Amino acid sequence: MIALKTIFAQIEYSMSEKDFIPAPYTTLKEEGSVTYSSPSNIALVKYWGKRENQIPANPSISFTLAACVTKTCVHYKKKAQHSDEFSFDLLFEGEAKEEFKPKINTFLKRIVAYLPFLKDYHFIINTSNSFPHSSGIASSASGMSALALCFMEMEKTFLPNITTNDFNRKVSFLSRLGSGSACRSIEGPLVQWGETSSIKGSSNLYGIKYPYEVHEIFNNFHDTILLVDKGEKQVSSTVGHELMHGHPFATQRFDQAHTNLEKLGKVLADGNLIDFISIVESEALTLHAMMMTSNPYFILMKPNTLSIINEIWKFREESNTHVCFTLDAGANVHVLYPENEKDVVFPFIKEKLVPFCQNGQYICDRIGLGAKKL
Ligand code: DP6
Repeated sequence: MIALKTIFAQIEYSMSEKDFIPAPYTTLKEEGSVTYSSPSNIALVKYWGKRENQIPANPSISFTLAACVTKTCVHYKKKAQHSDEFSFDLLFEGEAKEEFKPKINTFLKRIVAYLPFLKDYHFIINTSNSFPHSSGIASSASGMSALALCFMEMEKTFLPNITTNDFNRKVSFLSRLGSGSACRSIEGPLVQWGETSSIKGSSNLYGIKYPYEVHEIFNNFHDTILLVDKGEKQVSSTVGHELMHGHPFATQRFDQAHTNLEKLGKVLADGNLIDFISIVESEALTLHAMMMTSNPYFILMKPNTLSIINEIWKFREESNTHVCFTLDAGANVHVLYPENEKDVVFPFIKEKLVPFCQNGQYICDRIGLGAKKL
């Protein structure tokens, strides 16, 4: 019985992937260019652990950001002759960046089955970030989604009848193959990724705009990103995800993510910020606890990360506000707070938390609505 269920699950899964293979193109445009801006996102329930083909080990949900974006322009020109290699130049802030090319090449290999025109063109990919380079802010979510958007916009010129829903779903599907969290950057303000029983329409293959009611307290929610350490991470997210295979607490962690997502659903509807804080901060610390208990173990937080967390806890107690923190896979701290508390919280951040930032650097971001065609 179990075996049969597994077989059905696999059939359903492979069928869904095939759905992203397009109908044959009738015409291919000779030349053109397209530009998109796509944001970063910050997970409230974290994706940590994956299976083959970028399938998440657990479901996640994130706030889409507004200020931290990657802008990517793709110029495309049809090759004189079809060749079996991908052909592209890569510019980062106007300068050639050879070291970024292997990652793009891997991305193209993963998505060519779903965008079969990719080998017919030479591309000039010109990309830049709104946030400082080497700020420790992951650019993979915004960068991979911006590139996927440009390629999908190209496909739309060959297959113009695609609906906005199908377009967004396929962009998210493609982005996921570049970087898991990138599939949550296309829309906003909240995007959920990964199958879970509490969210109808949830999928391991793409992110969906959170389909339920969201309380107005989350409108314009702030995320002030404190840049604690701008250095290169010692352990990449990709390696961190790998270390969840055979991790002693993996099963419990994956179950916890489903439970937290269900609990968060209630909080998002009723706007209970006390419960919001306890889920979000626990998720952040659990993510780092997974790193500290993997084999090999590692620590991405820095002493100043902990100092900031302690200051937030102290201030929250004293001020009766609802400021809280979350972390991504690094030392930087995302300070989250509602719009109606910004006049109290922001001066506290400037006075007490910014001194812990490297060179006093921080980014004022807030919840955003997703990618934009420029
Ligand atoms: C800690 O999406 O960067 O930010 O799929 O290997 O590219 P890859 O990993 P990535 O992992 C992000 C992990 C996280 C949590 C999250 O965003 O959910």
